[in-house]
Amino acid sequence: MTFEPKILGFLCNWCSYAGADLAGVSRIQYPPNMRVIRVMCSGRINPVFIFKTLLTGIDGVFVLGCHPGDCHYLEGNYEAEKKFIMVQKFLKIVDFDKRVRLDWVSASEGARFAKVVSEFIDSIREQGPSPLSGENIDQELFNNLKAMENSVSSDRIRALVGRQRKITEVENEYGEKVPIDEFNAIFDEAIHDEFVRQRILLSLSTKVLSVKDLAAELKLDPSEILENMLTLKSRGEIDYQSIDGNTPLYMRI
Ligand code: FES
Repeated sequence: MTFEPKILGFLCNWCSYAGADLAGVSRIQYPPNMRVIRVMCSGRINPVFIFKTLLTGIDGVFVLGCHPGDCHYLEGNYEAEKKFIMVQKFLKIVDFDKRVRLDWVSASEGARFAKVVSEFIDSIREQGPSPLSGENIDQELFNNLKAMENSVSSDRIRALVGRQRKITEVENEYGEKVPIDEFNAIFDEAIHDEFVRQRILLSLSTKVLSVKDLAAELKLDPSEILENMLTLKSRGEIDYQSIDGNTPLYMRI
């Protein structure tokens, strides 16, 4: 049986949805694999929506907004782009970033709408069905994406996304701003750390484990696990549960 991808599209009301409408009334042909959710602006799309959608086993997610400079709410699409870059950074960790795409289509670009949607569907067709679809899903991938869903709501990640332009483009009162390379290094490290912490929390929600157990389960160095566990303990999110011989066992609070 040939694989027909299932795609979910988040389309902004003022440009992309109107572009899709124009493609329809102009009878421009494109594959019918995408279901659409209309949102008022691409900036409204919370990254959590994307992870929740991927966790259902859908094969791809397409976010479409107005061209830069044309957002009905002025800067919504710039916000969307920043959040999307963050989502991509997370998804790259598990090599899942090509299942999510962001693009711009105006209300007058019916033909362009059909083209970008067709291209995305072709790319998903080449990648094959999501490992989270069907009966035997990839549980490790599921847990990783679930940890990412939790990570994108963390204060640290939200602050870095929200203040990126202020930190890198606007000088503070001392005339300082952070070079973009330096900001990206800080951002990448925060994404990695938050992902590891949320992955640890997910494992400790159902089991009592040692640092060594977690390191084996998450395929990470025990020293990295320990460092992140100390942070979680200081935040009051995990605690000792018991000692097995000389080994402390931890649980989520
Ligand atoms: S209204 Fe279309 S991206 Fe903001």
